[in-house]
Amino acid sequence: MLHYGADYNPEQWSAATITDDIALMREAGVTMVSLGIFSWSKIEVTEGEFDFTWLDAVIDQLYQAGISIDLATATASPPPWLATNHPETLPVTQTGVRLGVGSRQHYCPSSPIFRHLAARMAGKMAARYGKHPAVKMWHISNEYGCHISRCYCEVSARDFRRWLEEKYGDISQLNDAWGTAFWSQHYPSFAHINPPAAMPTLANPAQEADFAAFSDDALLQCYLGEKQAIREYSDLPVTTNFMGLFEPTNYRRWAKHIDIISDDSYPNPAAAHHAREAALSADLMRSLKDGQPFMLLEQTTAMVQWRERNVRKRPGVFALESLQRVAHGADAIMQFQWRQSIRGAETFHSAMVPHAGRDSRTWTEVVELGAQLKKLAPVAGTRVNSPVAIVMDWPSQWQREAAIGPGPNQGWAAIRRWHATCFEAGVSVDFAFADSDLNGYRIIVVPEYFAMSAKVASNLIAAAKRGAHILVTAPTAVTDETGCAYQGGYGAVLEELTGVRVVDHYLPGGSELHEAQYWDAIDARVDRISAAISTPDAIDTLALHVDETSPLARVLDRMCRPRPQLHGRAWAELLSAQSDVEVLAEFTHGDLAGKPAITYRRCATGGGTYIATDGDAALRAAVLRLAAARARLPLPGVGLPSGVEVAQRGGFTFVLNHGDRAAQLRGFCGTDLLTGTTATGHLVLPPRSAAVIAAED
Ligand code: GLA
Ligand code: GLA
Repeated sequence: MLHYGADYNPEQWSAATITDDIALMREAGVTMVSLGIFSWSKIEVTEGEFDFTWLDAVIDQLYQAGISIDLATATASPPPWLATNHPETLPVTQTGVRLGVGSRQHYCPSSPIFRHLAARMAGKMAARYGKHPAVKMWHISNEYGCHISRCYCEVSARDFRRWLEEKYGDISQLNDAWGTAFWSQHYPSFAHINPPAAMPTLANPAQEADFAAFSDDALLQCYLGEKQAIREYSDLPVTTNFMGLFEPTNYRRWAKHIDIISDDSYPNPAAAHHAREAALSADLMRSLKDGQPFMLLEQTTAMVQWRERNVRKRPGVFALESLQRVAHGADAIMQFQWRQSIRGAETFHSAMVPHAGRDSRTWTEVVELGAQLKKLAPVAGTRVNSPVAIVMDWPSQWQREAAIGPGPNQGWAAIRRWHATCFEAGVSVDFAFADSDLNGYRIIVVPEYFAMSAKVASNLIAAAKRGAHILVTAPTAVTDETGCAYQGGYGAVLEELTGVRVVDHYLPGGSELHEAQYWDAIDARVDRISAAISTPDAIDTLALHVDETSPLARVLDRMCRPRPQLHGRAWAELLSAQSDVEVLAEFTHGDLAGKPAITYRRCATGGGTYIATDGDAALRAAVLRLAAARARLPLPGVGLPSGVEVAQRGGFTFVLNHGDRAAQLRGFCGTDLLTGTTATGHLVLPPRSAAVIAAED
């Protein structure tokens, strides 16, 4: 079955409301709730004094109603007494401010007292409810790192030193790796090291990157402490809820310690990007355990309250994006939260039961989705098969974040953009990681893998030799995995694949380079010297030239008329290319004019494309199409009516109309599980609706 439900925070409600809630849950088809996520202060009322009676009653009631429980360890927000009794557990910011009580997640992840009390709480829950028949899984803490991903207090500093000592063993190793010979940073012993707190100016990148890795590890240790406490009493599966493309925590590493991956996903309905954002988050979650289905543990029925402007989902979008997550590998659709709060920070965040009650569009949509998910039970447990992978790596991104220059750090924008390109082309994508098996992927995209180890590079080369087409975008392999700049040309570790190495960066920079705040605009009538100086790099977008002889020209002509002009942004490089490298497009500006911007080289039966800039949507689409043609991979979305996504999961075809107009489709035969009707080739989908076609036997 596919689970359906919500976070249930019953500590807000009277006994009578709880009884109503459970009746309403049955009406909505709720099968599971995440219970007790923020219940710590209601259970451990003062330090060491526990009251479970109210929770016993709720758990029994849910059980009698046949509702399963994803039981939280209740540790997501420490009770006020904890900060009073142990003020050193409160986190400290980079500028040295100790944070206060009155919100949530106010704990230092390295605090031994916090870790001990949280693990004790988890153990108490497991001891009491581990054998309760309603409890089906454990929900450890909540959104690790969402608010506090790094703490700079004395306890953290001590833990950081210990962590570094474990990593490097000897202080000379650390001095080497951190490049402390530069700027007089040599450390005589570990005792002198501190977290990268606020500093006079640029911080040592290696210190920053190590602190990022350490901070991730501190959070993971909190999780593992609670998990171990649970395991004393219960073997039920554990989860902790992730947050999509979240930078501070290395989800791939965490995934090994998690039984069921779960995600909280709040695409902004105000932006047309919300459909691709939902797809991206789901594809990432499915990939973290190599294709194992995941749970959507939180989304909103209608709107959140934490954006500056909170736009509501349009009619149909709640169901459509839920079914989209199922299409991409979700086996559960849960929301935050069951009943909308009437007090507190989330009073205006939508829920399954809105303030208006049953007489509302939200409630109607909630009941409808419950009925739809029931019909999709056969989909549960089935897998998605993706011919394309996008490679990503947290430690590389931490290095990118810590590096100072040479160009802008765009975070994971390149990952989002390349995923969007695949999504719009209708091809299913997995994410792959440094330790992934790349076998079987026909196209592998490597967007901005800044700090790449020689091992990852050789895996990519091996994949190309087995026939994969690999698309590498700049800046990639600028440094090794420790942040040490490669010498002899960036990207040389991939040269066997791409045939190119990067000799120099030619970074474009737009209006901010004119320095108009200091000087007047140049007046050619009087400024006779300055008017003669040209600054071709002072631009934001880089027009590229695609020669008639380039295979990209033919792809572009088939893609749209008139042939689109391709652009790069943000990044440009001077390449040194081997003689067998084919130039697909050239730069046209300044000193790079006529130099290769996109290159291709055959590598055994596969190939390597290198993109020396941050390409726009048309560039990415064209490069993907060319690679797909070379890989003989059909792009299923090309030719479908606009707005329509078709996604395969197991033997099921999800046809999702994200658009505002009814869509007419041909070639779809089989039973629509949602309506029970049989499609005989012709399918009509109203705006913002879906069909799920079961393959005929
Ligand atoms: C906010 C939300 C979370 C999560 C993160 C991800 O903080 O509260 O649910 O989506 O954004 O950036
Ligand atoms: C996160 C948290 C929830 C709630 C939602 C609101 O996902 O886990 O407790 O705050 O954000 O969007």
